[in-house]
Amino acid sequence: MDCIVIEGGKQLNGEVRVSGSKNAALCIMAATVLAPGYHTIAGLPMLRDITTMRRILEHLGALVNGTDQMCIQTETLTGVEAPYDLVRTMRASFLVLGPLLARFGRARVSLPGGCAIGVRPVDIHLKALAALGADIAIEQGYVVATCKKLRGTTILLDAPTVGGTENIMMAACLADGTTVIQNAAREPEIVELANALRMMGAEIQGDGTHTIVIHGVRELRPMNYTVMPDRVEAGTLMIAAGITAGDVIITNCPVHTLTATIEKLSEAGCSVEVGDSRVRVTRRGALHPVEITTAPYPGFPTDMQAQIMALLTLAEGTSLIRETIFENRFIHVAELDRMGARIKVERDLAIVMGVPYLTGARVMATDLRASASLILAGLAAQGTTVVSRVYHLDRGYDGLEKKLQHLGASIWRQKEPAQGLH
Ligand code: EPZ
Repeated sequence: MDCIVIEGGKQLNGEVRVSGSKNAALCIMAATVLAPGYHTIAGLPMLRDITTMRRILEHLGALVNGTDQMCIQTETLTGVEAPYDLVRTMRASFLVLGPLLARFGRARVSLPGGCAIGVRPVDIHLKALAALGADIAIEQGYVVATCKKLRGTTILLDAPTVGGTENIMMAACLADGTTVIQNAAREPEIVELANALRMMGAEIQGDGTHTIVIHGVRELRPMNYTVMPDRVEAGTLMIAAGITAGDVIITNCPVHTLTATIEKLSEAGCSVEVGDSRVRVTRRGALHPVEITTAPYPGFPTDMQAQIMALLTLAEGTSLIRETIFENRFIHVAELDRMGARIKVERDLAIVMGVPYLTGARVMATDLRASASLILAGLAAQGTTVVSRVYHLDRGYDGLEKKLQHLGASIWRQKEPAQGLH
């Protein structure tokens, strides 16, 4: 198994380009199921999660070519099942449920099960699909959904779930009549999906607001779509510049989606110069403590919480970070503490008491964003940090260590050492 080794203490300088958005790409790939024909999706990041979604589509009978630009032929779909072995490795596989149901009137999709960061149920997805007229049963760990024809209706979501909003939007595109999703998620990835669906001929309004209106159409056509850049990767690179007191220009940056992150980085003492699709992050002085509460978009993203915590471990004073989206997303705390951080967790609140320096250690990644947090801490720490279980990182960051190397970090990948640092 591979690990990532970092010799900390190097300031990052230079220019780096952000890859395509993982979470937008995953739902757009699932949307190809809705319309038979040749779809082309460009700007895809090279990630394990993208490969998993590709395998799901192939399992359904799609013919897929390419990597960063994929041609997905969905004329030949024969299956309607997303099996446990694929879904358990990536929850976003569940996003094929709505499209399969809408196109074929049936779907058999494994329930994803729990996850390191929380229980993550899918009850809201299922309740909404039932409201659209689907019969839903749970059989041997699978959701078995059938319908003659979905019928548009008004659906009030109990919580603004991102995946739930996406599943319902995709299903409603081919329903009879109009669907109104109230308390919908407003994340930029929802707007991306709506743009892709509109390119397929869907009639959708209100994406990016709390109320999305979808007028069902009889059929959709294939799309030719380029995915937006990844806002979490961009935010992570911004923090890399801040934590090393560097000077980094981040290009292909979805600036308009990063307001909350930019605001908190500025409050913490980083200078962020914003251009059209680029930001420059520099830091000269000390880091200041900050109070952060994660929230649905446009609030501070839960997907940036672990990374900003790494930065705030080095602030002059005490920061408060409240996690409101997932109930178990502080697993990185114990690992950061092993590097000399002083963090106390009280239920959903992390109290981060700044320390003057971190020291390198062997640490373990527990999920995707936690692995990024540990790498960021390693960039600033004195000495050598070894982050193991980097398969988490490979799920969602396209070549992060190469990008950091290019900016001057001393970071590389190697086989996991049996014991000790090397
Ligand atoms: C998406 O997950 C993202 N994943 C996550 O990105 C992100 O952290 C999350 O949205 C929140 O922004 C993808 O887009 C593939 P939710 P999703 O449904 O859709 C509860 C990353 O690191 N809930 O908005 O699964 C749920 O338990 C990841 O890239 C229900 O109770 O998130 C959670 O507490 C990880 N019932 C909250 O809602 C449901 O039916 C938000 O979850 C659905 C959700």
